Amino acid sequence: MVQNKIRLRHIGQWELGELVDAQNEIFSDYIIPMKSSSSFFVDFLQSVGGKLENVIIALDGRKVVGYVNPVVDGPEVWIGGVGVVPGYRGKGIGTQLMLAAEEFSLAEGAKTSILEVIHGNEQAHRLYTTLGYQDTRAYVCAEGKPVQFVGYGDQPRRASMDDLREMHRKAYADTCWQRRKVCALETSARGSECYAVSSGFVLVRKVNTVGYIPYLGVVSDHRGEGTGTSLAKFALNRLHELGAYKAAVYNINEEPSVLRMLDKFDFAVTMKQVEMRKSLV
Ligand SMILES: CC(C)(COP(=O)(O)OP(=O)(O)OC[C@H]1O[C@@H](n2cnc3c(N)ncnc32)[C@H](O)[C@@H]1OP(=O)(O)O)[C@@H](O)C(=O)NCCC(=O)NCCS
Repeated sequence: MVQNKIRLRHIGQWELGELVDAQNEIFSDYIIPMKSSSSFFVDFLQSVGGKLENVIIALDGRKVVGYVNPVVDGPEVWIGGVGVVPGYRGKGIGTQLMLAAEEFSLAEGAKTSILEVIHGNEQAHRLYTTLGYQDTRAYVCAEGKPVQFVGYGDQPRRASMDDLREMHRKAYADTCWQRRKVCALETSARGSECYAVSSGFVLVRKVNTVGYIPYLGVVSDHRGEGTGTSLAKFALNRLHELGAYKAAVYNINEEPSVLRMLDKFDFAVTMKQVEMRKSLV
């Protein structure tokens, strides 16, 4: 049972700062320590289709001691973050936050709840398993080096958001929430160079000295034709031209074809996430 003094309720718009302070406390001892800010959190919410008013907070008096961020999209809800500040853990608050998020999402029409947990976060994995979530698949992040290539097949052309939308739908239907939702593509496209060929597209961006390939997709009926390899060469070459010293990819499906591609370009896996799902009905 949660101690009586802990209350759960939806966040007020004015409490964003306190939520971010709590998040920074929660994730300071995380597997990958994370530091957020109000603007970062608002951008993140926008990129995943979330709403601040849907966030549920746990309060001890006026202090935010935990939160959960349910992002509902039609029949699905994605738990875009849950955490309890260190001194309040092991008292059932995480469980109550998850149950509150599920109840809210069900009322909003969600039938399936989806989340990801970093491989090795045993505490969180145990919490989700106890609540009935099951492992469904895994996603990996990887890093490699930008490389100069001479010749990489068809020259990709600069692409607009309209060019990308349809290809994204056909290439990313079966990927993680943060890749398959069109709002995520729109957010990434704003800060990236976007390129396309007839059956695929790639986004590249450089932040300081680090290069990113936020998207590299080939439409499902044109896979195995070398387009992905050509786009990867093009992207690594472009990041090399831009002067990036490393190239990173995030949350890509851990599938044999993807792993072979990472291997081909000497990318090393840096992190693995496990997707878990639960039926709410
Ligand atoms: C994962 C996390 C949210 C769990 O929150 P929590 O409030 O500690 O969760 P609960 O208290 O509901 O459950 C945790 C444990 O406490 C136990 N517990 C639950 N109610 C309890 C109570 N009243 N008294 C004592 N123990 C209790 C649970 O059985 C569980 O035990 P277990 O770890 O042996 O399975 C928290 O550890 C956290 O914030 N971690 C850092 C951020 C993070 O990893 N977030 C998830 C990202 S995917």
